Amino acid sequence: MALKDTIQSLMTQVEGLKATNAEEVEAMRIKYLSKKGEITALFNEFRSVPAEEKRELGQLLNHLRQTAETRINDLREQISDQMVNVQKENDLTRTPDPIVLGTRHPLSLVREEIEEIFSRIGFTIAQGPEVEDDKHVYGMLNFAPEHPARDMQDTFFIEKEAGVQKPTDVLLRSHTSSVQTRVMTSQKPPIRVLCPGRVYRNEAISARAHCFFHQVEGLYIDKNVSFADLREALLYFSKEMFGPETKIRLRPSYFPFTEPSAEMDISCNICGGTGCSFCKGTGWVEILGCGMVDPNVLEACGIDSKEYSGYAFGMGVERITNLKYRVKDLRLFSENDVRFLKQFESC
Ligand code: PHE
Repeated sequence: MALKDTIQSLMTQVEGLKATNAEEVEAMRIKYLSKKGEITALFNEFRSVPAEEKRELGQLLNHLRQTAETRINDLREQISDQMVNVQKENDLTRTPDPIVLGTRHPLSLVREEIEEIFSRIGFTIAQGPEVEDDKHVYGMLNFAPEHPARDMQDTFFIEKEAGVQKPTDVLLRSHTSSVQTRVMTSQKPPIRVLCPGRVYRNEAISARAHCFFHQVEGLYIDKNVSFADLREALLYFSKEMFGPETKIRLRPSYFPFTEPSAEMDISCNICGGTGCSFCKGTGWVEILGCGMVDPNVLEACGIDSKEYSGYAFGMGVERITNLKYRVKDLRLFSENDVRFLKQFESC
C-alpha cells in the first residue's frame, strides 16, 4: 500500500478508537505510538519518500501522530475519571461532598440583632404561644370588649362564640404583648423581658401589609421605672441599631395597655434627617410604639400598681429590616425565593 493510503487508513482507525479500561488504552499507545508502533514505523518509511512528496506526506503524518496522541490521552483521562467515581462510590469512608448551606433569613438576622442589643442592657427572651385566647391578647391588656381599639388589631379567630367577644375565644395573637401578660402572671417583678415572635392581623396582603409579620416587644417592670428610663433604653437601642448619629423623637399616641403612650420615630437613616423620598421629606421614620404600662394591666396581671411601674415597647421586625436593607415589598420575606435570600449571604 502506498504511504498515503496507509496514513489514511490508520487515521480512520485512530479516530474511532474506544476503550473500557486503562490496559486497553496502554495497548493502543504501544500499537500506534511506541518505538515499534505502526505510526512510528511510517516515519521510518517516510525517509525514503521522494523529495517532491515529502512536504504533503510529512504534514499528513504529523497530523496523524497528533490525532492519535490526543485521542489516546482523552481516552486515558475519561477512564481515570470513571475510576475515581467508581472508587468514590465504593469507599464508604470517603470525605463527603460538601453540603450546600442556605443563608440566614434577613428577618432572623435582624431579630437576633435586636435581641442582642437589648440583652446587653439586661433583657432576657420570653416566648409564648401563637394560638392564644382573647384574655391574654386583649382582655388583660385593657381592651374592653367591643372597644374600637380591637379593630386596630383585628385577627383570625379559631373558635369564637357569636356576639360579644369572650375571654375564652381562641385566636391567633395580634401582638406579642400576650407573652408579656403570661410573664407578668407567672413571675414576680423585677421583670425585664423581650418577646420576639410571629403575629397575625386580618389585613389584605399588599407590598406594605401582610396577614402575618414579626414583632419584638419589650417589658420592664420594677419599682420607680419612669418614662425617662424608657426613653433612654430606646435611644440606646436606636443608636446601636442604626448608628451613633441617630436621633429619636416620641410623639403622643394611644394604646389601651400603656398610659401615656407614644410612637417613636428615628431620624431617617437614609438621608440623615434632611428629608428624602423614603421619609416623605420629613427627615423622620416611625419604628415603634411604646409607653408606661397602664396600672389596669398591672392589676389584671396581679402586680401591685402602687408599688411597681413599668414600660413597654413593640416593634415590627419587617419594618426594621426594611430600614436596614431597603426591602421594598413585604411579600418578599415569605416567598422563599433563593435569589432574594442569597443577597443576605454576607450579612
Ligand atoms: N402591641 C403594640 C402593637 O402591636 C405595640 C406596643 C407594645 C405599643 C408595647 C406600646 C407598648 O401595635
